[in-house]
Amino acid sequence: MKVTVLGAAGGIGQPLSLILKNSLPAGSKLSLYDVAPFTPGVAKDLSHVPTDVCVDGYTGDDLPKALEGADVVVIPAGVARKPGMTRDDLFKVNAGIVANLVKNCAKVCPKACICIITNPVNSTVPLAAEVLKAEGVYDKHRLFGVSALDVLRSETFLGEELGLSKADMYVPVIGGHSGTTILPLLSQVVNAEKISAQRIDELTKRIQNAGTEVVEAKAGAGSATLSMACAGARFALKVVRGLMGEPGVTEYGYTEGDSGYTQFFAQRLKFGVNGWDQVYDIGKLSDYEQKCLEELKPVLEGNIKKGQDFAIEWAAANK
Ligand code: LMR
Repeated sequence: MKVTVLGAAGGIGQPLSLILKNSLPAGSKLSLYDVAPFTPGVAKDLSHVPTDVCVDGYTGDDLPKALEGADVVVIPAGVARKPGMTRDDLFKVNAGIVANLVKNCAKVCPKACICIITNPVNSTVPLAAEVLKAEGVYDKHRLFGVSALDVLRSETFLGEELGLSKADMYVPVIGGHSGTTILPLLSQVVNAEKISAQRIDELTKRIQNAGTEVVEAKAGAGSATLSMACAGARFALKVVRGLMGEPGVTEYGYTEGDSGYTQFFAQRLKFGVNGWDQVYDIGKLSDYEQKCLEELKPVLEGNIKKGQDFAIEWAAANK
């Protein structure tokens, strides 16, 4: 397997690359790319970690070298939020960055599975799909938005609430990856009946605002990097396991999965040798969750359209 990280020298990219270096199967390759000129140095640094994963690093015009032969591309590139900003406020800057990187993927590694971390994920994934379509290589089974951090946070907060090990928690999170579009299905958590309706509402809102909690705590120095690196690595490693033919590997991810709710939607996916090969039904929702689902749909649809509209114009201007 070859995994390429685009934005590898940044706050998410470096810890993400470290986890991948430590966790990819022996014999894998890890390529790092970033506009930061010291990216080959980050690769050199990582190469001293004693695992059987080869690392190389590129910058500047060498993006195609980083992408050559990639099976999985993980994209955390772009700018992060500051206090007072929403993820959507990042669109202006990050949309062009994602469009350009994805176009390069289309040209150099059209069959790679692309995992997008760059915000606003609700819009950058549909945007990427349009760029891939314009290049004639879109396969919905190979394009993902990484929404798994919402699952990690839910596991943490619910484990704390119920006094259970976080390692044993299983919390479905569907919808999108921003504000009220993040919908944790707390009614499906084991022992959920022990949590009052008021606490369910408070926990749901905390999960929806958890990214902002980090942005505010970092007070201008950016957003979640370490937990996002964990989420990105957990997701990418599962994609890799699926590509290698391991059966039954699943995770929540944001894709064009024919959910019937919105065109792109985060739901539980099963990974196979060609990307995701199955989406799971979201199961039974409580009345509270059903109401939240109805409310999030128009918001998510707006986010999706924003990404698509941008990409169609961008692709026409960047033929
Ligand atoms: C997160 O959920 O922490 C990330 O999407 C970053 C952000 O801006 O909140």
